[in-house]
Amino acid sequence: MKLKANEVFIPGAFPKYTYISRQSSEFDISYEFRLNQSLNTVGFLTSIVGPSKTGKTVLCEKVIGIDKMKDFSGSDFKESEDFWVTIAKRVGLPLESDQTEQRTIQGQGIAGTREGVASSITEKYHSNKDKVIQYFLENDWVLVLDDFHYASPNMQMEIAYQLKDAIRKYFKTVVISLPHRSDDAIRKNSDLSGRLNLINIEPWNTKELREIAVTGFGKLGLNINSTLANNMAQESLSSPQLMQSICLNLSLLLDIDNKDNPKLDSSMLKKAYEMTSLNLLSYREVARKLKNGPNPRGQKRKTYTINSGNQVDIYELLLKALSVDPPKVSLFIDEMKRRMDALVSDTDKPDRLKIKTTIGQVQSIMQTSEPMYQVFEYKDDEVYILEPLFLFYLRWGRLD
Ligand SMILES: Nc1ncnc2c1ncn2[C@@H]1O[C@H](COP(=O)(O)OP(=O)(O)O)[C@@H](O)[C@H]1O
Ligand SMILES: [Mg+2]
Repeated sequence: MKLKANEVFIPGAFPKYTYISRQSSEFDISYEFRLNQSLNTVGFLTSIVGPSKTGKTVLCEKVIGIDKMKDFSGSDFKESEDFWVTIAKRVGLPLESDQTEQRTIQGQGIAGTREGVASSITEKYHSNKDKVIQYFLENDWVLVLDDFHYASPNMQMEIAYQLKDAIRKYFKTVVISLPHRSDDAIRKNSDLSGRLNLINIEPWNTKELREIAVTGFGKLGLNINSTLANNMAQESLSSPQLMQSICLNLSLLLDIDNKDNPKLDSSMLKKAYEMTSLNLLSYREVARKLKNGPNPRGQKRKTYTINSGNQVDIYELLLKALSVDPPKVSLFIDEMKRRMDALVSDTDKPDRLKIKTTIGQVQSIMQTSEPMYQVFEYKDDEVYILEPLFLFYLRWGRLD
C-alpha cells in the first residue's frame, strides 16, 4: 500500500518514516547510541540540552519507545504537591490519602529545609517514593522530564534532590532543557556531579535536513533533485520541524497522493514556503510588536527610503535586514550593517552604533514580553536567532 504524505511528513509528532539519525560532533556516535548508553548506566541521570524543536523529545521516543516513556513537563510539578505524588497520579498508581500527601510535603518542604523531618513522615514519604520507583521498574518505564526550565527554581532544586536518590535505586530518568535557561539545578548540582550523563543536541546542518526531504519523497515515489532539496534545507533554518512542514505542504501542492508523476519546480517551492507560513501566524504579532519598537513618546522617528521605494524606520529596517537572503540563524553586526546598507537607497545609512542601540532596544522589548517573543538575542557582536520559525515567518509570511 502506498504511503500517504501526511503519514510520511510529520511536523508535530514522531516521524516514523522520516526519522533521521544524527551523529554528535563531539563523539563519533549517534545520539540514539549515546542515549541508550546513558540509560543503561545505573545510578546516572541523563540530561539532554538543546535548542527548541531540534528533536529532543523525538529522540527519547525513538530510543525509549512511546509506550515505555512517561513524559512530564517541568510545569506539571508544583511546590504544593509532592513530586512522587504528581507522578503517581498521572500514571494511575494509587497512593495514600490526600491528607498524608499534604503532611508529607509540609514536612519535607523544598530543598534546603530537608533536615529535621519527623521520622514518621519520612517513612510515609519513603513509601510513596518507593512505590513509584517500584512501579516504574516493574513496567520498565523511563521518566522523561521535558521542559525542565518550566519548573520554578525551588521545584528544580527539589526535583534534583529527589532524583539523586531515586537513580541509585535503578530508577531511569531523562531531564530535558533548553540551553541558556538555568538548568543549574541539574548540571551544576554537586550532589549529582559524577553521576550525570550530559547529551548536548546540536543544531541541524543542511545535509541532515536535506535527508528528511530525500528520504520522505523517496517513500512517496518522487525523486527530488538536489538543488531543490538544498534550497529547502536552507529555508528550514536548522529546524527539522520546518523541513517536515515544508515537505508536507509541497506534497499537498503536488497532490502527490493522487498523481503518479507530479512535476516539481522552484515556483512550487515558493508556494510551499508561503503555505507553510500560514501555520505560523502567531509570529505575526511578534513581528508587529518588534517592528513598532519602543514607545516613541510623541517623537517622530527618522525614516529611510529602501529599494522598494517605501519609507521605513530603523526598527522595520532591522527586521528587513534579518529576513533578506541568504537566510541565516546568526549574523555578525558587520553583516547586519552590510545588509542594511544594501537595503537603504538614500546616502544616509544607519551607522553601527545606531544599529547596536536599536538591537538593544528590541532586545529589551523581547525580554519584558512573553517567552514567545524571545526570538533572537544579541551577544558578542552577533545576533542569534533563537526561534527559526520566527525568521521563516519574516521571510515568507504576511507582515501587515
Ligand atoms: N530525528 C529526526 N528526524 C526527522 N524529523 C525530526 C527529528 N527530530 C525532530 N524532528 C521533527 O521536528 C519536530 C520537533 O521535534 P521535537 O522532538 O518535538 O523537538 P524538541 O523536543 O527538541 O522541542 C518533530 O515533530 C519532527 O517533525
Ligand atoms: Mg520537546
